[in-house]
Amino acid sequence: MKWFNLSRQSKRDLKNKIDWNNYFPKHIAIMMDGNGRWAKRKGLPRSAGHYAGMQTMRQTISMCHKNRIAFLTLYAFSTENWKRPKEEVEYIISLVSVFVQETNIRDLNENNIRVSFIGDTSKFPNDTQQAMINVSNLTQGNTGLQVYFAMNYGGKSDILQAVRSIVKTKKADEITEELFEQFLYTRQNPSPDLLIRTSGEKRLSNFLLWQSAYTELWFTDEMWPDFNEELLYAAIFDYQNRMKRGQAL
Ligand code: IPE
Ligand code: IPE
Ligand code: MG
Repeated sequence: MKWFNLSRQSKRDLKNKIDWNNYFPKHIAIMMDGNGRWAKRKGLPRSAGHYAGMQTMRQTISMCHKNRIAFLTLYAFSTENWKRPKEEVEYIISLVSVFVQETNIRDLNENNIRVSFIGDTSKFPNDTQQAMINVSNLTQGNTGLQVYFAMNYGGKSDILQAVRSIVKTKKADEITEELFEQFLYTRQNPSPDLLIRTSGEKRLSNFLLWQSAYTELWFTDEMWPDFNEELLYAAIFDYQNRMKRGQAL
């Protein structure tokens, strides 16, 4: 907060440096990490960090919409996150319904934003599944920003579920990379161009393993609840520099 003015200035500078026509990332994937540490530093319970993270997630959807990102995939709950204490798991899951309640579906529709879920959502309680089905059904016709929430998602289980289903109808020598991709949870979107992870951790934690084969990775030490538009611009700017450098070789 103390560097608010400076931040506003650098946000404008960064925004001006972005090339909005060339090398613009179509698909951004985000690993929203650091909610717990953010809360701890403030002397708050971890749940307060998750709630704040959910609000940041909402703002991020709006930032991506405003900045003409086509696809946004948000890692919200991994297959490994079930190992956390029961109360924390229950709280994170309850935030799905809170998110749906607090999100104005009319706003999503007015902004042409479509919300979908990837991962094995059948493991969530019925009311949570219902909330997911509602928001995705009510926005399925939208053709603007495509938001994917990865919930009970794991890259390994994504690949395995694709294998299980592909072997039912296809012969081994028919299976190409392109065909295989049609069986992944992400079949409707292109691979991510840019993957952002907050909180200083630098690992994939079982996120889009197949899909991130050529994705540019971008890390920040900021905790997820502190993610903001300036950081989004910084990530896009870095991404573009890397792409242009690659092209100049
Ligand atoms: C990310 O924040 C949110 C989820 C995994 C749901 P964490 O809860 O992992 O926060 P840290 O990493 O403990 O700070
Ligand atoms: C990754 O964060 C999962 C999400 C952001 C939902 P974690 O904090 O759970 O990652 P690991 O398992 O500690 O690496
Ligand atoms: Mg974490």
